Amino acid sequence: MTNAIVMSGIRPTGFLHLGNYFGAVRNYVRMQDQFTCYFMVADLHSLTTHPDTKELKGHVARVLAENIACGLDPEKVALYCQSHVRETTELYLYLNMLAYTGELEKTTTFKDKVRLQPENINAGLLTYPVLQTADIILHRATLVPVGKDQEQHLEMARNFVKRFNHRYGEVFPEPQAFNFGEELVKVPSLDGSGKMSKSENQNATIYLSDEDDLIRKKLMKAKTDAGPTAPETPKPDYIENLFQLMRLVSAEDVVKKFDEDYDQCRIRYGDMKKQLGEDMVKFITPIREKAESIRTNPVYLKEVMEKGAEKARKSAEETMQIVREAMGLKYY
Ligand code: TYM
Repeated sequence: MTNAIVMSGIRPTGFLHLGNYFGAVRNYVRMQDQFTCYFMVADLHSLTTHPDTKELKGHVARVLAENIACGLDPEKVALYCQSHVRETTELYLYLNMLAYTGELEKTTTFKDKVRLQPENINAGLLTYPVLQTADIILHRATLVPVGKDQEQHLEMARNFVKRFNHRYGEVFPEPQAFNFGEELVKVPSLDGSGKMSKSENQNATIYLSDEDDLIRKKLMKAKTDAGPTAPETPKPDYIENLFQLMRLVSAEDVVKKFDEDYDQCRIRYGDMKKQLGEDMVKFITPIREKAESIRTNPVYLKEVMEKGAEKARKSAEETMQIVREAMGLKYY
């Protein structure tokens, strides 16, 4: 166990998918034995795009259950809900005074959301990266396991930290996006356009809750072509995507065989997708079944949330004492 502190979060806006697993949760599980870890369900962030909270409770339960089913141990880490740690919103407010509207308006995720929901461009959407920074630095975390899509948010977090420290003194360390010495992961969607996502592109995304036949069906429909006509042809993106998925869930010799078949122009994509389907089913089935039994156990989930919030609040309170003092918000 080293002293480094780890923090990350997932929005409860739908079902978890392979992107969430390989971009984030897989690393959470690997990190839990080495570091002090805080992992949360970002329910406040979800309100920026999902103001209707009818399904929120169910989604929060699902994210918690799926995290645990993937191997996260609530005894080893703090697994909690963002809204249960009220210090988050206090720090968010302070950080808002250090964030400039110009830089927030330029954020890629903000611009995407403006395009997707022009009828609801709320201020929470604009200050989304500020809230995310508050989540992270509330525990003075330095390592943030996330997928590639979060890189810009982490860069902004470092800017806010630098600004805070410059103005009020060295309180926070600078956080970094983390993936065990490798590039951050982006799991692409199966139709070759964009990435796997909780709420968009559902037929081209594999969810941890998908039934066996649906997984097979989605993979059989993945985009391919007639195959290469000359040896050693570079793979088009959508074919590389399939190989990438195969590298994640299939045995090494299986990947090697299909790689060689591709290079020798004898690849049969139907066979490859069938094999990938079976390997994917083997990977997902145990997670789906375990998640289902946890998701439907409200007593256990309540216990997890309470314990997690208690651990997170302890660390948050310590940080906020230092923050209020550094900012001169203590008058007696
Ligand atoms: P969210 O809920 O969109 O995604 C959760 C995690 O999954 C990763 N991810 C992917 N990785 C690879 N390929 C994909 N196709 C893919 N799709 C999603 C994301 O990078 C993320 O790691 N803003 C965050 C939630 C958040 C947070 C935080 C993260 C709130 N506070 C503090 C870290 C620290 C988000 O929207 O994640």
